[in-house]
Amino acid sequence: MIEFQNQIFHLHAGGMSYIFGIEEGVPQMYYWGKTVEVSDLKGLMSQGGMGWSTQADTQLLEMPVYGTGDYRSPMLEIEFADGSGVTEFRYQSHRIYDGKPKLNGLPATYTEQEKEAQTLEIVLYDALKKTEAVLLYSVFENGALARSIRLKNNSSEPLKMKRILSASVDFYDDDFETLTLHGSWARERHVERGKLFHGKKSISSSRGASSHHKNPFLALVRPYTTEQQGEVYAMNLIYSGNFEAAAELSSYPLTRMQIGINPFGFAWELGAGQEFQAPEAILVYSDMGLNGMSRIYHDLYRNRLCRGKYRSAVRPVLVNNWEATYFDFTEEKLIALAKEGKEIGAELFVLDDGWFGKRNQDNCSLGDWKVNMEKIPHGLEDLAAKVTEMGLRFGLWFEPEMVNPDSDLYRAHPDWCIHTEGRPRTESRNQLVLDLSRPEVCDYIIDAVSAVLSSAKITYVKWDMNRSMTEIPRSDTAHKYMLGLYRVMETVTSRFPEVLFEGCSGGGGRFDGGMLYYMPQIWTSDDTDAYERLFIQYGTSMVYPVSAMGSHVSAVPNHQTGRITPLKSRGDVAMSGNLGYELDLSKCSPEEKEQMKAQIAFYKANRELVQFGDFYRIESPFEGNYAAWQFVSKDKQESILYAFKKMTVPNGKPKRVKMTGLDKDTYYETTYQNQRIKGDVLMNVGIILEETAQDFESFAIKMTAVPDVSAGKE
Ligand code: DGJ
Repeated sequence: MIEFQNQIFHLHAGGMSYIFGIEEGVPQMYYWGKTVEVSDLKGLMSQGGMGWSTQADTQLLEMPVYGTGDYRSPMLEIEFADGSGVTEFRYQSHRIYDGKPKLNGLPATYTEQEKEAQTLEIVLYDALKKTEAVLLYSVFENGALARSIRLKNNSSEPLKMKRILSASVDFYDDDFETLTLHGSWARERHVERGKLFHGKKSISSSRGASSHHKNPFLALVRPYTTEQQGEVYAMNLIYSGNFEAAAELSSYPLTRMQIGINPFGFAWELGAGQEFQAPEAILVYSDMGLNGMSRIYHDLYRNRLCRGKYRSAVRPVLVNNWEATYFDFTEEKLIALAKEGKEIGAELFVLDDGWFGKRNQDNCSLGDWKVNMEKIPHGLEDLAAKVTEMGLRFGLWFEPEMVNPDSDLYRAHPDWCIHTEGRPRTESRNQLVLDLSRPEVCDYIIDAVSAVLSSAKITYVKWDMNRSMTEIPRSDTAHKYMLGLYRVMETVTSRFPEVLFEGCSGGGGRFDGGMLYYMPQIWTSDDTDAYERLFIQYGTSMVYPVSAMGSHVSAVPNHQTGRITPLKSRGDVAMSGNLGYELDLSKCSPEEKEQMKAQIAFYKANRELVQFGDFYRIESPFEGNYAAWQFVSKDKQESILYAFKKMTVPNGKPKRVKMTGLDKDTYYETTYQNQRIKGDVLMNVGIILEETAQDFESFAIKMTAVPDVSAGKE
């Protein structure tokens, strides 16, 4: 997978080649794209230059730095003790080995067997300032490329890092568009495609979390690239904090693509002898469109980023009390809801916010992780036991990273929140962020959460986080917070390996690869309106596997949008993720409950396909009146198509949907008019949706391969 010859590195796997060479000690980028066999591309590189410029400004640089004539954004920006910032890193050595190293304190993809990936470490050295940069590359069998950088200060004086990005790639090309995921609370990860312009186009977060607003993902796509075909170059950062991703078109014009910790608001002092490890970026090339890119990310993240029992165990169908009761619950109400959940077939009952301290609204008690005996008079152990006796598992909500000023924790430790002396402490949802850059705060959280988890039979945790950071005291606080949070999560999740952890941040405010390393599923959005979820789940699936997405059926009118949608459509959207129900089941009619029962039964029979099969986006809700996606089992024996019509068009032309990912020669028994249809017909001719005059109508078609009936054999 990694070859080195004539000073040229050729990293290749899964249809992708990434080639760069060392010229006069400097790593120069040659090529990233579809596999080529020849790696000596030196003679094919541009020898040109432009007026009023330097050589560095027109080169394709593998680790661009500041100070010697490259005027584009650097990957590294250092201020040395004497105030200077010019660096000159030169190749010193490299090593290539099987497997992949752990990244100290950071989430990262991994291998279970060494042959699954190969790693290249290149040591570059600035002799004047005795500073070492190690470029790390690991190529996985499926073509995903993990990149990061480690900086070491070998001098006797401290230095200040003002920027250390994880990956930077220069392209000779400029025929690209950008594709990013943007949004806000309740409207996360909407797909946005746009033009490059001369200058730097960037997305970022400075909120202390990866954020609802921008996701740490950037793709460069050819103008002709679609879901099914065309070239895509993507970067995704395995990090849950502040990030920046940028595409810069220089005057030459060359395109530079970068991702890493957001340099804005960041600085890090590296003392003599100290090292800094940057988070990992996952680079994916696909010449099979956006779906090709997504499948590489999905497989890698499901199998070699997620860990623990639930990496490959099917996810339980849950009932959550949040939209059913909000804070207004009693033990009886909870038991009644769990019972109704059990009756429709749910497997897990989740008690959400409001079970601890004196919390009856969102204005107090975060930090005081002791059960509220007024609301739950027999305690958590008893409640969990009662739910367990019903044949359900019991799950619990926490928001461990936060504190309300009205809490015993805050009264005891007012200095434990993120704050700047002499400045106001801006509250959001009446709460402040605990300062996880402080080890004693992390230890408190570990102990408090562990005590609750040990006190009752709890097999699921929803780990919420409901505000952004403000009044951040120092330029290293936000990253130190992430390192503290990762230590907390590593400790708690490994202490309770049987517990299924679901990440959450006011819905999908921290839906990123960093979280998936600790928690294999994430609550996708607080917006439970199935119509809105079409966009959110479609966008989320660009990078993240369906098994990562929590998705619930909720009441109508929907609590976020007021929209009234059919139960079938709500079910079909929620079944396109990890299915749950989040509504007051006592208010549902017997017919509705029967329908939910059928949904859960169908989901249970098909969830392996949904959670672990290949996922294909077919029709984008961002582009037309329909959304459609398809699940195909790895052996292509089973498939489900979900299609959704947004609005009824009077006297409109019925929609034809073409399947994808099936075996062309296999016959499938389908629920489409109970017809037996061959794979190539389903994929090339397609089926016509049998629409009625109903807005937001959904269609589900199950396809099952007919054994021994293939072309010519029937
Ligand atoms: C935000 C979450 O996203 C919701 O699902 C719910 O858990 C509330 N917090 C509870 O405060």
